[in-house]
Amino acid sequence: MEPLLSLGIGLLLLLLWAKYKGIEYVLVHHRWIFVCLFLLPLSVLFDIYYQFRSWIVQKLHSAPLQHSQRVRYIQSQVREWKKEGQKTYMCTGRPGWLTVSLRVGKYKKTHKNITINLMDILEVDTERQVVRVEPLVSMGQLTAHLNHLGWTIPVVPELDDLTVGGLIMGTGIETSSHIYGLFQHTCKAYEIVLADGSLMRCTPEENSDLFYAVPWSCGTLGFLVAAEIKIVPVKKYVRLHYEPVRGLKAICKRFTEESEKKENHFVEGLVYSLEEAVIMSGILTDEADQSKVNSIGNYYKPWFYKHAEKYLKANKTGIEYIPTRHYYHRHTRSIFWELQDIIPFGNNPVFRYLFGWMVPPKISLLKLTQGEAIRKLYEQHHVVQDMMIPIKTLETCIETYHSDIRVYPLWLCPFILPNSPGMVHPKGDETELYVNVGSYGAPQTKHFDAMASTRQMEKFVRSVHGFQMLYADCYMTREEFWEMFDGSLYHKLRKELQCSDAFPEVYDKISKAARH
Ligand SMILES: Cc1cc2nc3c(=O)[nH]c(=O)nc-3n(C[C@H](O)[C@H](O)[C@H](O)COP(=O)(O)OP(=O)(O)OC[C@H]3O[C@@H](n4cnc5c(N)ncnc54)[C@H](O)[C@@H]3O)c2cc1C
Ligand SMILES: *[C@@H]1O[C@H](CO)[C@@H](O)[C@H](O)[C@H]1NC(C)=O
Ligand SMILES: *[C@@H]1O[C@H](CO)[C@@H](O)[C@H](O)[C@H]1NC(C)=O
Repeated sequence: MEPLLSLGIGLLLLLLWAKYKGIEYVLVHHRWIFVCLFLLPLSVLFDIYYQFRSWIVQKLHSAPLQHSQRVRYIQSQVREWKKEGQKTYMCTGRPGWLTVSLRVGKYKKTHKNITINLMDILEVDTERQVVRVEPLVSMGQLTAHLNHLGWTIPVVPELDDLTVGGLIMGTGIETSSHIYGLFQHTCKAYEIVLADGSLMRCTPEENSDLFYAVPWSCGTLGFLVAAEIKIVPVKKYVRLHYEPVRGLKAICKRFTEESEKKENHFVEGLVYSLEEAVIMSGILTDEADQSKVNSIGNYYKPWFYKHAEKYLKANKTGIEYIPTRHYYHRHTRSIFWELQDIIPFGNNPVFRYLFGWMVPPKISLLKLTQGEAIRKLYEQHHVVQDMMIPIKTLETCIETYHSDIRVYPLWLCPFILPNSPGMVHPKGDETELYVNVGSYGAPQTKHFDAMASTRQMEKFVRSVHGFQMLYADCYMTREEFWEMFDGSLYHKLRKELQCSDAFPEVYDKISKAARH
């Protein structure tokens, strides 16, 4: 009884203090209290529910049977919208707070929402080497299912809760993208419900215009109801080599060299300051030196970016064997480095051993409960951006960021960008090596201004023929947006498929004015 009693007294004192300070003040300045007491346990319950559901569905093999029925239901909703006179645009019925993207579209309240209840893995075909999935299947769900069968998708975007639909309609990338390209480049087919309610399958051979126009279109050409993704055999471990590098020139040089090596299955860079980085390259293997195995995904282990930083502090290289699934989701527990701002002591060993198993809080729940004050605070004093630029411009990019925003660590993830049609391709005719530069955190420049500074970054990215990920705050004008992205195929299809009454233009969905 005693621990319960002290817990009770503790809670009471906390409440009194909150009452004294003002609930709003405590929620904004000591958000960890709320997160630890309420959000973490709730996140655990959420996960248990979804895992249980997915397990039951697999046991009953019910997903493939129900799929066509569910798609017919989506088609009937679209036809009903048509019959009612196409009064407003349509959007998916998934509430905005459930997505990983930080902002919620205002359109969710005004558009006709189409319920899309598609969250299962339909078929793993090891002969054709594809997996057919519904759009709400998450990365955590997919790697758990496939790795267990000895397979994986080639590009596994980091966070457990990212969905196939969001990664195809938006963007997906991982540290294997220097070989396989973006998430969209590993897809073999999409099945789309169009504005007239018909179902169309598209592949590079069949309805290829639609196939190439879908990525980055953010659901403004139709509703994705299934996708076929390539699968490749997986091995037990990633043999990861850590190399601290000092000096900006040396960092960019070493990172480019590693990204160009075909024998590296994974390449990642964490830049801790203008002059310091750790570059990691990984190779899949079944054999491991048991003394060097590190199961970094276990809840009591240090956060990955802190772990990698140790090699910088020690100024020496190192090798570890990391269980593959732990590698794939290495930044999940700390949400890259975002959790540090929410639970400042989250990487403390005491916290990790006692409560680490509940971490991370669901991004969806964090969003749902953040309130207006925190949202504003974040908007003005926090950057979350992923920008994709040709790797040859990396040095200038880091320098530009350093004077505009100064957010560290920076996440570097190389990827190969083929010259296929669609919104995003290199300027020239050739496939080109790009790098995604992710900046997540509080800017350290004194003159930071959310709008002006982001516009600076966007301008730089346009000038080197780079791209901004569309989940992030976008301050570009429509003209600037279509200068960055190639709209030729997209606009042609919007016309052909009669989208103008059915879906907003992608810019009107993602621009600053369109989102909370
Ligand atoms: C904290 C954070 C971390 C991130 N980490 C990574 C990372 O490690 N790797 C990475 O690649 N990306 C990352 N991202 C970016 C992420 O990939 C994009 O935000 C992605 O689009 C979000 O996917 P979601 O599953 O939440 O989809 P949503 O946000 O729900 O969807 C994205 C867009 O696709 C549309 N859409 C979704 N499903 C359908 C459908 N069935 N039919 C039609 N349209 C649809 C939606 O309308 C929306 O416009 C991160 C983002 C944040 C905020
Ligand atoms: C979808 O629309 C219905 C009725 O128009 C509304 O009640 C519901 O809240 C909407 N759902 C979302 C997620 O906005
Ligand atoms: C790190 O080690 C290298 C040699 O391996 C040495 O040249 C360099 O001075 C060291 N840097 C620091 C900051 O200790």
